[in-house]
Amino acid sequence: MEFRHLGRSGLMVSEISYGNWITHGSQVEEDAALACVRAALDSGITTFDTADVYAGTRAESVLGRALKGERREGLEIFTKVYWPTGPGRNDRGLSRKHIMESIDGSLRRLQTDHVDLYQAHRYDYSTPLEETMEAFADVVRSGKAHYIGVSEWKASQLREAHAHARELRIPLISNQPQYSMLWRVIETEVIPASEELGIGQIVWSPMAQGVLSGKYLPGQPPPAGSRATDEKSGANFIARFLNDDVLTRVQRLKPLAEQAGLTMAQLAVAWVLQNPNVASAIVGASRPEQVHDNVKAAGVKLDADLLKAIDEIVEPVTERDPAKTESPAQRP
Ligand SMILES: NC(=O)c1ccc[n+]([C@@H]2O[C@H](COP(=O)([O-])OP(=O)(O)OC[C@H]3O[C@@H](n4cnc5c(N)ncnc54)[C@H](OP(=O)(O)O)[C@@H]3O)[C@@H](O)[C@H]2O)c1
Repeated sequence: MEFRHLGRSGLMVSEISYGNWITHGSQVEEDAALACVRAALDSGITTFDTADVYAGTRAESVLGRALKGERREGLEIFTKVYWPTGPGRNDRGLSRKHIMESIDGSLRRLQTDHVDLYQAHRYDYSTPLEETMEAFADVVRSGKAHYIGVSEWKASQLREAHAHARELRIPLISNQPQYSMLWRVIETEVIPASEELGIGQIVWSPMAQGVLSGKYLPGQPPPAGSRATDEKSGANFIARFLNDDVLTRVQRLKPLAEQAGLTMAQLAVAWVLQNPNVASAIVGASRPEQVHDNVKAAGVKLDADLLKAIDEIVEPVTERDPAKTESPAQRP
């Protein structure tokens, strides 16, 4: 495993981190979840990402059980707050009330007294940013989180939050956006602003939820047991990538991966890590073999000719519009 600084901070994270959205507490059984975390630890992954909302809070509990007994100082545990965790109108968003209540729930479920990074899962247009940042400052000062991050915030929102964080003297060090060969919306605005502010990216769905592994074939039903067959939630989220134009182009990446001596999954994960503002690629996995496959993307350099050849194939189906970095206009 290779390690990078998260933004302009002293915190180091593994280039590949492990995330448990859709899988833990939902798509996969507990023993498979525990086996995936074991595989991640055995492969040198030290950074784990979850959220209060995943699987209706069950994902944090699964991760807490999976990491129990590990040396806490050897791990970086990240969670998030914003999406609904209960039926009440205050069980969501970035109000002081919800942040203070949610961090305690997360720590209880994760069986730890602090998280390394506490992230605002989206921007909350119905809470003054000042209120949110002051609540985050109290979370940091009480020792419940070491650093603060955000997820899917626009460049202008990052700038505003960064100014508050400076004033409050708390470390706002990361953003968590979607980023892959097929989803490059952060490149024109979010990345330049982040570089200027010392914010690093921990990117999600680097494999476009499994699509860039090449296992979904155009005109064919999805493979048994894959996310596209998970009617509980996965199938909805992956649907946007499952059209024949995308899948045909993804198949054309196969010879490029072979030439580079990589699997398609490794090529996809290595691709996001070529961007120096990306500190870590968060991969998901439903089986330990996938973790073993994906971690080999750490430390891989892709040459300029290969990157150009990839661009030529995927460009017509790649999303680049910076306006796609968005948070709900109304609190969900
Ligand atoms: N901040 C946010 O708003 C946000 C949103 C989404 C995700 N995230 C974070 O990012 C993490 C990763 O997201 P993701 O799960 O969508 O990432 P991903 O790495 O793009 O997709 C992971 C899925 O692809 C399949 N897969 C993984 N490795 C494979 C391989 N080697 N060969 C074939 N298939 C493979 C598996 O699904 P199947 O085996 O079921 O097909 C796996 O669950 C999440 O767990 C979460 O921590 C954050």
